[in-house]
Amino acid sequence: RQRPVIAIDGPAGAGKSTLAAHLARRFGFLNLETGAMYRALALKAIDNDYSFDEEAPLMDLAAHTRITLEPQLEGNRVLLDGRDVSRRIRETDVTNAASKVSIHPQLRAWMVHQQRLLGEAGGVVMEGRDIGTAVFPDAEVKIFLDAAPEVRGNRRYRQAAPGSNTAEPTDRQNYGRQAPDPVSAEQQRLTEEAVLRELKDRDYRDRNRAESPLRPAADAVILDSTSMTLDEVLNQAEEIVRTHL
Ligand code: C5P
Repeated sequence: RQRPVIAIDGPAGAGKSTLAAHLARRFGFLNLETGAMYRALALKAIDNDYSFDEEAPLMDLAAHTRITLEPQLEGNRVLLDGRDVSRRIRETDVTNAASKVSIHPQLRAWMVHQQRLLGEAGGVVMEGRDIGTAVFPDAEVKIFLDAAPEVRGNRRYRQAAPGSNTAEPTDRQNYGRQAPDPVSAEQQRLTEEAVLRELKDRDYRDRNRAESPLRPAADAVILDSTSMTLDEVLNQAEEIVRTHL
């Protein structure tokens, strides 16, 4: 390929999307969010009443599905069979469905194939769970962004728009900085607990699936953001990219 690939992997809520968007801007690369592809297929499964647990019908569905990622300044615009689903795929039902459909090995192979085509010319920051281990094992830069589950859960919780059905960031500039509207302390505690529980469930599925489970590549630089500010994470990551390019 003509230009390098920067692979960003890690568990949910570690800040991968914010980091990927930042590095893409900084180095003039395209930013590709592979999770959005799993989400888009999961949405199609929801809309057509497919089971998340049966691989063969899901593969059939995938064969008749066109998923397009359009890199933007912040994240990707996502088209599912030509329809803009960028916001819909961030809602909680799709988030959980994506986590379930992504355990199937053939389905992963289908995704990996498409992702390699998307990144084959290089000049991309590709973000996901298996970029450094499966999609581009020869990526020039690999960063594994991690953080303690409680910290990731709390960040996700604070990102969620109050009263909405979304637990995913929509405004990535405000990453982790937006506080929800005042609600009762008890309500707040219950919601935060639910977010943490769902995040841990997703982690568990990602780390324990048979095909390309979530783990750092042997040659990845591990960045643990548990007690780092966003600026510190961005600066350290930039440093890592500079030393590897
Ligand atoms: O990163 P994001 O949360 O959007 O990904 C949605 C789901 O897709 C994740 O929970 C994960 O299970 C799956 N995924 C994956 N491999 C990737 C990207 C995402 O298995 N490369």
